Amino acid sequence: MRLHVVNHPLVSHKLTVLRNQDTDSPTFRRLTDELVTLLAYEATREVRVEPMDITTPVGPTTGVHLAQPKPMVVPILRAGLGMLDGMMRLLPTAEVGFLGMVRNEQTLAASTYAERLPEDLSGRQCYVLDPMLATGGTLAAAIQFLTMRGADDITAICLLAAPEGVDNLEAALGDHAVPVTVVTAAMDEKLNDKGYIVPGLGDAGDRLYG
Ligand code: PRP
Repeated sequence: MRLHVVNHPLVSHKLTVLRNQDTDSPTFRRLTDELVTLLAYEATREVRVEPMDITTPVGPTTGVHLAQPKPMVVPILRAGLGMLDGMMRLLPTAEVGFLGMVRNEQTLAASTYAERLPEDLSGRQCYVLDPMLATGGTLAAAIQFLTMRGADDITAICLLAAPEGVDNLEAALGDHAVPVTVVTAAMDEKLNDKGYIVPGLGDAGDRLYG
């Protein structure tokens, strides 16, 4: 697994405002959207493109366009939905599929309550959107799900990650044959005894959607 912590002053600035408990929901939603676009720029460095011949007003040249099959963007409901628009701004022609997952706040185990994804994801690059990588259980289950459908390259975009969650995810993936990359705006200190990221930003789903 490859981990990429995006080091950029604008990312840090927007994240600081998100972390602040005094930031209201409308501002939180807007900044999440902006932050995801910045993270998406980094996360799509390896997006597959194909050469394309065009003619400019001055003459012919060769550029690129997105390769087929189209990339698949997968927000994890509910909080990942707040990241979708920011991602689609950079990949407007991507296909979108949904995974509904919830973490049991006592056991911290993740379970899937909804899915709307193609049966066959063979050859697809998938971009998973989930703001928090806490224990890593949700992301591990999502990656397993996509791999079983045939996804062959998976990138997760998170606002925050905890070291324990990254370790758990690496252990869960083991010698995973499919390349997995996690792109995050920050690696925080730790998890607390309730499985919340410290210092974190609280419950992203609640802060986005109340
Ligand atoms: C939160 C968060 C992640 C998950 C992370 O979702 O949005 O999906 O927990 O935790 P983990 O790494 O320990 O699995 P939650 O279950 O609160 O659902 P919500 O998005 O509907 O609020």
